[in-house]
Amino acid sequence: MMHSCVIWSLCLLFSLFFSSHAKHLCRPDQKDALWEFKSEFYTDGFHSDDGTPVDKKTERWSNNIDCCAWDGISCDPKTGKVVELDLTDSSLNGPLRSNSSLFRLRHLHIMNLGSNNLSGILPDSISNLKHLRVLSLSGCSFYGKIPSSLGNLSYLTNLDLSHNDFIGKVPDSLGNLKKLTDLGLDNNKITGNFPHVLLNMSELTQIDLGSNQFEGMLPSNMSSLSKLVYFDINENSFHGSIPSSLFMIPSLIQLYMGRNSFSGPLEIGNISSLSTLGFLSLGENNFNGPIPRLISKLVGLWYLDLALWNTEKRKVDFSIFLHLKSLTFLDLSYINTRSIVDLSLFSDLMSLGYLDLSGINLKVSPTLHLLSPIEILTLSSCNIAEFPKFLEKQTSLSYLDISANQIKGQVPEWLWTLPFLQYVNISQNSFTGFEGSADVIQRSEILLLDISSNLFKDPFPLLPNSTKFFLGSNNQFSGEIPKTICKLTSLDTLVLSDNSFNGSIPRCFENFSTKLSVMHLRNNSLYGTFPEESIGDHLKSLDVGDNRLSGVLPKSLINCTRLEFLNVENNMFNDTFPFWVRFLTNLQVLVLRSNKFHGPISSPGEDSLSFPKLRIFDISKNGFTGVLPSYYFASWTAMSLFTDNVDIMPSRFEGRDSGNLYNSVSMTAKGLVMELVGSGFTIYKTIDVSGNKLQGNIPESISLLKELIVLNMSNNAFAGHISPSLENLTNLQSLDLSQNRLSGEIPSELAKLSFLARMNFSYNMLEGPIPKGTQIQSQSSSSFAENPRLCGVPLQETCGRGDDATTQEDEDEEKEEKEQVLSWIAAAIGYVPGVFCGFTIGHILSSYKRDWFMKISRSFA
Ligand SMILES: *[C@@H]1O[C@H](CO)[C@@H](O)[C@H](O)[C@H]1NC(C)=O
Ligand SMILES: *[C@@H]1O[C@H](CO)[C@@H](O)[C@H](O)[C@H]1NC(C)=O
Ligand SMILES: *[C@@H]1O[C@H](CO)[C@@H](O)[C@H](O)[C@H]1NC(C)=O
Ligand SMILES: *[C@@H]1O[C@H](CO)[C@@H](O)[C@H](O)[C@H]1NC(C)=O
Ligand SMILES: *[C@@H]1O[C@H](CO)[C@@H](O)[C@H](O)[C@H]1NC(C)=O
Ligand SMILES: *[C@@H]1O[C@H](CO)[C@@H](O)[C@H](O)[C@H]1NC(C)=O
Ligand SMILES: *[C@@H]1O[C@H](CO)[C@@H](O)[C@H](O)[C@H]1NC(C)=O
Ligand SMILES: *[C@@H]1O[C@H](CO)[C@@H](O)[C@H](O)[C@H]1NC(C)=O
Ligand SMILES: *[C@@H]1O[C@H](CO)[C@@H](O)[C@H](O)[C@H]1NC(C)=O
Ligand SMILES: *[C@@H]1O[C@H](CO)[C@@H](O)[C@H](O)[C@H]1NC(C)=O
Ligand SMILES: *[C@@H]1O[C@H](CO)[C@@H](O)[C@H](O)[C@H]1NC(C)=O
Repeated sequence: MMHSCVIWSLCLLFSLFFSSHAKHLCRPDQKDALWEFKSEFYTDGFHSDDGTPVDKKTERWSNNIDCCAWDGISCDPKTGKVVELDLTDSSLNGPLRSNSSLFRLRHLHIMNLGSNNLSGILPDSISNLKHLRVLSLSGCSFYGKIPSSLGNLSYLTNLDLSHNDFIGKVPDSLGNLKKLTDLGLDNNKITGNFPHVLLNMSELTQIDLGSNQFEGMLPSNMSSLSKLVYFDINENSFHGSIPSSLFMIPSLIQLYMGRNSFSGPLEIGNISSLSTLGFLSLGENNFNGPIPRLISKLVGLWYLDLALWNTEKRKVDFSIFLHLKSLTFLDLSYINTRSIVDLSLFSDLMSLGYLDLSGINLKVSPTLHLLSPIEILTLSSCNIAEFPKFLEKQTSLSYLDISANQIKGQVPEWLWTLPFLQYVNISQNSFTGFEGSADVIQRSEILLLDISSNLFKDPFPLLPNSTKFFLGSNNQFSGEIPKTICKLTSLDTLVLSDNSFNGSIPRCFENFSTKLSVMHLRNNSLYGTFPEESIGDHLKSLDVGDNRLSGVLPKSLINCTRLEFLNVENNMFNDTFPFWVRFLTNLQVLVLRSNKFHGPISSPGEDSLSFPKLRIFDISKNGFTGVLPSYYFASWTAMSLFTDNVDIMPSRFEGRDSGNLYNSVSMTAKGLVMELVGSGFTIYKTIDVSGNKLQGNIPESISLLKELIVLNMSNNAFAGHISPSLENLTNLQSLDLSQNRLSGEIPSELAKLSFLARMNFSYNMLEGPIPKGTQIQSQSSSSFAENPRLCGVPLQETCGRGDDATTQEDEDEEKEEKEQVLSWIAAAIGYVPGVFCGFTIGHILSSYKRDWFMKISRSFA
């Protein structure tokens, strides 16, 4: 008894001693520095991706606690100096200044400030922290050059500057970091050639330069990087061949070189059969020629991506892949071979979880049996004519894409019994229906179903509650849109365009708190009024164009503050201008074209409608009337400012594949469909008010819209002079002012608009000489016709005397060429929300694949 009591007291004593010791460990100077550091940043205004509150470590720091015990701080137990600062993901927001108290923590060994919003130029004073071994500033908002003073941190083993906005070249001074093992510079905007100084850093095991703007060739001799394990230069602009010395590095396990401009031949060199290389990504480069047989020597490969390797229609010997028994991921999509491959060849690869053979002509025998547990299978454009029967036994399948084949008949009932199936794309085939009872699909847990561009007829399938994305455009469904759609409470995207639905838009969405963000019902035969009830306030894209809808636009849309795309063209809406759209501050596209809208488009009480993000405004072919006040366009910010991309998310939250997709819209002009992707869409800014009864002067404020590409005000009753201020629309490519009552001269300033390739001033009351300028005078004379007092080239009427006569023939030829090129910006443009809905889906699919990849990678780690 006594004995244990003594021991117990001793323990108590000890623990008291240590805890009291810990209380006084923190040194005052270090504490002050930390306290000041905390006050340099604010921690609000930050949200995590999923809305859960983020951890704010510095908020929990307290004067009553020893600073060495603060969250994220560790001290040297003997000296009390702060040696570790780990404030990852702590909502720190604000610039890191060169006089920051951070740089007084001179004894830091480990500093991790990743996933905060530290911004500004990374100060040179970072080199004050001489003892740093680990420095991570990943996922912040630093910009400017990488400071060369980093080269002074000679103890560094880990340097992570990834996911920022660094620009410029990698400073040569980094070559001094002889102890560096891990270098992360990925996801910045770094330029220049491959940094040769890295070759001098022989301890490097990980180099990540992915997603930057590097260019040039790789050094031919990379063998000095003898400890390299992980090498990532994905998504840059490297070209030339890949040095064989890279493959000879014995420690190498992962090689990411996809999405560059590398070209063949691929020299793998004399690798030993014991190559440890497990991961080889060469997809989306410019390789052409045969696929090197030596790949078969890389027997450790579990990941192989050769997508878009151009074999130039050669035959490919697919048996070279059969030696790679560990293959889990194989992407051979679009390798441009004329070989026909029997899918059974792959039955030897027992570990396959991901297989993409899109674009290869496949033979799929009805008796085929694949043993590998494939989870993601993409066989798009493989010339498959019958539904692949072997899938019935593929019970691990969660993602199936057999789009763009020639499969006829019914979708087999057993497909929906595959227990893990979530993503199904059977679009662009000739399916006519679903086998089994009306509710077969409801037995599955499908998340995405794309059946568009087939021959599906009624009955419309009943979908399971799990459905998030349903794409059923371009089929032969008819009758009313089924009310069961409203009950799908997870539904995000509903696309039923280009069918023969009639009846009205379902009125049941309100009852089921829908989360619908995309609803596209264009080109059906829907009639009746648009439901007054809310379709939910998640809507981002609504397209009901090309139907027979009537009545007014429902006010309930005012609550859809996320709305970006609204197209109701070619219906019979009979309404006044929906002034409430000005509350939709995210609106980018508004198309009211060809309806029976009427009344003024400016309201007396208001200076200007404010459209901060609007890029396409098309209210043509309606009955709008009235005069536009001269400041009408004053607050149409997106059209007056150059924005080189749509800011949806800070770049560090963006998925790799999702980027550009979003910023695109399809346009159909004269039967030609074209998609402007990425910057194309951003550039494309249009105002079309043609075919109304608008009067008065053309508002002077139009000249503020410097980014405008197309301006069509034709076929109204605009009067007065054409303002010389139009010269400020320097990006204008098409200007149509025809069929108005404009008078006076065509301002000579317009001759300066060098992009203006198409213009029309016909049917006005203009007079005087046509300004001299190549763009203007190369128009056809019809662009100026029916202005009784207009003269000069290209019209027949000369202005006075001495007009220089160019040969008419040459001109005509030139004209024709130009008109062809520019037909797409012709007046008859329709707006189809091309990839507006693709964004969410692309994002979901790429994140699904990424998650799958992470899961698999872990099992190989
Ligand atoms: C650092 O410099 C900025 C100006 O560049 C100044 O506003 C700030 O007070 C200084 N901070 C400290 C801790 O000296
Ligand atoms: C991050 O910092 C930048 C620049 O200081 C600022 O513009 C941006 O709004 C901040 N982002 C967040 C999410 O607070
Ligand atoms: C740090 O590096 C810079 C540039 O590389 C150099 O000019 C400077 O003298 C170095 N400072 C120290 C303290 O070593
Ligand atoms: C590599 O280091 C050596 C000696 O330290 C030096 O002479 C050489 O210039 C360096 N090479 C590069 C590419 O920095
Ligand atoms: C490549 O470089 C290493 C040292 O970095 C050298 O030993 C070797 O000879 C070089 N190989 C060739 C082919 O130049
Ligand atoms: C390739 O390496 C093996 C041993 O690893 C050697 O026997 C053979 O001669 C080498 N071949 C060539 C062409 O260098
Ligand atoms: C389905 O496949 C088609 C053709 O390959 C493709 O265009 C479409 O984007 C795919 N659908 C989805 C939702 O990914
Ligand atoms: C789908 O959800 C509705 C209501 O949310 C429920 O009544 C119905 O039973 C569910 N159906 C299935 C197949 O789970
Ligand atoms: C918008 O939503 C609010 C709250 O849900 C509702 O009270 C209001 O009536 C809605 N406005 C319209 C025009 O539907
Ligand atoms: C629009 O509706 C009003 C009545 O609501 C009607 O008088 C008018 O004729 C309609 N306009 C057109 C063009 O149909
Ligand atoms: C064009 O814009 C500039 C400033 O943006 C302005 O000073 C000038 O007066 C404008 N030109 C005309 C003709 O209005």
